[in-house]
Amino acid sequence: MCGIVGYIGFRDAYPIVIKGLHRLEYRGYDSAGVALLNKDEELKVYKKAGKVSDLENFVKDIDTSSTIGMGHTRWATHGAPSDRNSHPHSSGDRKLTIIHNGIIENYNSIKEALLAKGHVFLSDTDTEVLIHLVEDIQHETGLELREAVRVALNRVIGAYAIVIMSADEPNELIAARKGSPMVIGVGKGEYFIASDATPIVEYTKNVIYLNDNEIAYIRRDDLLIKNIDNTVQTPYIQKLELQLEMLEKGGYDHFMLKEIYEQPRSVRDCLRGRIYPQQGKVQLGGIKEYVEKLKNVDRIIIVACGTSWHAGLVGEYLIEEYARVPVEVEYASEFRYRNPIITEKDLVIAISQSGETADTMAAIELAKEKGATIFGICNVVGASIPRLTHAGVYTHAGPEIGVASTKAFTAQVTALTLMAFYIAQQRGTITQSKLIEYLTELNEIPTLIEKTLKTNDHVKVIADKFKDSTNCLFLGRGSSFPVALEGALKLKEISYIHAEGYPAAEMKHGPIALIDEDMPVVFIATKNSSYEKVISNIQEVRARGGHVIAIVSEGDTTVKNMADFVIEIPQTAEAFVPLLATIPLQLLSYHIAVMRGCNVDQPRNLAKSVTVE
Ligand code: F6R
Repeated sequence: MCGIVGYIGFRDAYPIVIKGLHRLEYRGYDSAGVALLNKDEELKVYKKAGKVSDLENFVKDIDTSSTIGMGHTRWATHGAPSDRNSHPHSSGDRKLTIIHNGIIENYNSIKEALLAKGHVFLSDTDTEVLIHLVEDIQHETGLELREAVRVALNRVIGAYAIVIMSADEPNELIAARKGSPMVIGVGKGEYFIASDATPIVEYTKNVIYLNDNEIAYIRRDDLLIKNIDNTVQTPYIQKLELQLEMLEKGGYDHFMLKEIYEQPRSVRDCLRGRIYPQQGKVQLGGIKEYVEKLKNVDRIIIVACGTSWHAGLVGEYLIEEYARVPVEVEYASEFRYRNPIITEKDLVIAISQSGETADTMAAIELAKEKGATIFGICNVVGASIPRLTHAGVYTHAGPEIGVASTKAFTAQVTALTLMAFYIAQQRGTITQSKLIEYLTELNEIPTLIEKTLKTNDHVKVIADKFKDSTNCLFLGRGSSFPVALEGALKLKEISYIHAEGYPAAEMKHGPIALIDEDMPVVFIATKNSSYEKVISNIQEVRARGGHVIAIVSEGDTTVKNMADFVIEIPQTAEAFVPLLATIPLQLLSYHIAVMRGCNVDQPRNLAKSVTVE
């Protein structure tokens, strides 16, 4: 949610900032802006509603040379997307300017106090209030800027990652974070600041992840980090593992398509070094300290949002089936506000691609307060969630840039599969021979995903038939029900077609009323324990004139004779069907969205990491 970039050094800041904003555009893309310092050390702010490219057009004839600068790409919270609500926002005297990701919750009361003192606001944002507060503190107390920022941050409630530039301090950027991510890239005589490492990786691999309540005072040759209570912190410099090519489209038309095609690799990377099929052994280094806990755990609660929540539902089937521990899957946003009953005996698993989702973080904090052990399943290394949890497993899917989650989902399901078998192994709820059998099959899944991707041309033909639909139903049973939910979410978020996922048997309790010749119904009808039941559900749809698209096991002829279209996926154990059945659904949504002229990588109103609740 909102992307932040800053640079101070010896190079021209503007191209670095703009390139960084393009890399961060997946975080928000309704407006963008930059602040630079001109030759006369005056602050220059350029901002525009629209994409980063609109900002570039706006600025193209302006002299942008400056060796210090910062930029912002916005996902609107306070105030509609417009030029005036775009960041940076400046103080009344235009000597200070700020970019901000997050929400200042008490901005209204601060604003009222400042209005009473004569401050004039030009935007509807909470961010502008914060920079006026800093100005006001300086004016009232005569404090130097560093101190005024610290005092101001002590007065705000909410989440922020901010960068401040000042005309009076032309050799310094001030950055701070609480609840929103911020990374500082360390170069020689230069520093980079960003919401995540993607704008930084091509310049330096040395980074510092700022912690909550830390303020960084950044000069070309000096970095000082203090806590908000004024104690000096020792920065911990880490090496980035990210490669630049991971951030490029690599010849694909869209990041989403590239990421769909990366799934054999991402699932393989998630499995690497963790399974030993011949020995029937799963090894998860990240949680190995918690073996005793896993042996005795009474209940597992999975918390997540969106697609990650769908992965959690698949995890519920797997953990209950193999490890025989009761599992509850909760929307983090609901869980955090309903005084849930959690005890020290519980294990909470938080799933998040970005590792920054505000609701998931709040759910973790709550469960932690109540004494539960918290595991994370996260993709972005070093993000906030892995740092908040007691232990965890990285999914190793690599950077996911397309806003609609694809490879992150299958990697999360893979990690949950590993966790289910790992817990089962510790608790003795699975035999060694069964484990050998399952792990041998799981090891083949990346190859089977490769095979499944070959359905692409056929899926494209189906997409063309249904691209003008206004509604679509996705139905599945067992662990294919979350796959149906995920298929529906993909379609609605990138093609704007209304879609619902349902357990197939629930259809007759309501949704069946919607079925007519204009309603495509996508079934996951692979050969597993509920196959016969799903066939009956298909018949019910056919009897009402609905069009059936079915994902079936290779060689199936029964469903082929009933459905309008079938998409064959390789045979695999029931446990692994979600990893294959998801693939054609991702492709279906992708092609429909492209055919409808939608921006698949940056669907309207969405942002990749939801750092506001
Ligand atoms: C959908 C999608 C979202 C995310 C959700 C949680 O394609 O990407 O539904 O899954 O916002 O995000 P993370 O996993 O980063 O916590």
